[in-house]
Amino acid sequence: MDILFFGGSFDPVHNGHENILRTALGYKKFDKIIIMPIGSPGHKSSCKAPFAVRKYLVQQAFFDIGVDMEVSDFEGNSFEKSYSYITVDYLKNLYPDSKIHFIIGADSAINMHKWVKWEYLAQNVTYLVFDREEGENPQLEAAVERLKKYSPDTVVIKNTVFPVSSTQVRSMAAAGEDISALCDVKVSAIIEQYKLYSLDFYEKNINTAMLLIPLMLREKRAQHTFNVAKLAVELADMYGVDRQKAQLSALLHDIMKQQPDDIMLHRARQSDIIEKIDRKPMPVLHGFAAADFARREMGIEDQEILMAIKSHTCGRRYMSDLEKVIYLADMLSEERNFPEKEPLLQLARENLDTAMEQALKDSINWLKEKGGEIDSDSYEALDYFTALNHGGKNNG
Ligand SMILES: [Fe+2]
Ligand SMILES: [Fe+2]
Repeated sequence: MDILFFGGSFDPVHNGHENILRTALGYKKFDKIIIMPIGSPGHKSSCKAPFAVRKYLVQQAFFDIGVDMEVSDFEGNSFEKSYSYITVDYLKNLYPDSKIHFIIGADSAINMHKWVKWEYLAQNVTYLVFDREEGENPQLEAAVERLKKYSPDTVVIKNTVFPVSSTQVRSMAAAGEDISALCDVKVSAIIEQYKLYSLDFYEKNINTAMLLIPLMLREKRAQHTFNVAKLAVELADMYGVDRQKAQLSALLHDIMKQQPDDIMLHRARQSDIIEKIDRKPMPVLHGFAAADFARREMGIEDQEILMAIKSHTCGRRYMSDLEKVIYLADMLSEERNFPEKEPLLQLARENLDTAMEQALKDSINWLKEKGGEIDSDSYEALDYFTALNHGGKNNG
């Protein structure tokens, strides 16, 4: 099987990428295309848009490319800095009898001998080197000779470059300019609709979250999330809490809820002190994982927002008003149905602290009945609000 492999940031995918892909398909018949957007290992993503969004846009751009096409999660889910030889090992395992045709640019070919385990990588792939320069390119020719020692079928494909870069698409989108000539029509419409590259923090992140929710959550959970955001904004307005912070925290609070356990645990451990995370019951970790997602993939550094996302299931002492709003909105969202709901909702509209005390009592009791594990932060939070509301008396 001949696999065409195309990796990159795709932040966002544009007509230059399509041009390369179509040129490659014109050069040779391939059985499968694997497109691999990079992930966000390390402290912070080098990309402006979250992996799930970049992946979705690539799918939109190339779904009609005419060859079996897959956008791989492998690097997006990788916890470590991912080297090409590791990615190729993964693909070789997945498709043992395949030949992997690896698209690279002339600059990468020239610098390939600096890549980690480059000889090993070259032994396992065939390079399609795309060269934008017209005429002779002695530096590239020397590099290709070097690569051919390990990857004898390496070819150079001259292509007239489509004059566009992701940086240019982002800055034009940020300036509100028309990008429809630079990207697939569906891609440019999504970028414009969801303000994916807006320079306004809330405009960008609230809209990006709206797009992410149906991509990362199943229907019921997505609906719950939108309901939480609605109530959070209502409560925020009542109590003088920043409504954009409330909306953004609410939209992201459950974003990791349906991810596999290993990814959730890894993200949660990145979000806070590891020893603290490891003591916590599994069901509360999705909030911590979501805070890591918000910070790493979306560049949200606002500690108030991150805390509100983290504490939405377990609560904690000294919760800010924003945290209380998110905790209560999550518990009392429109679709929830439990006997104590109406009085608690009324309480939430009267006084955040008395509502928090009652909400914590109710959820601890509910967990006890269910035999669920109770986070020590929840007990501490209940003690804190009880003391606050009753002048220092402890609930014992
Ligand atoms: Fe949750
Ligand atoms: Fe929730």
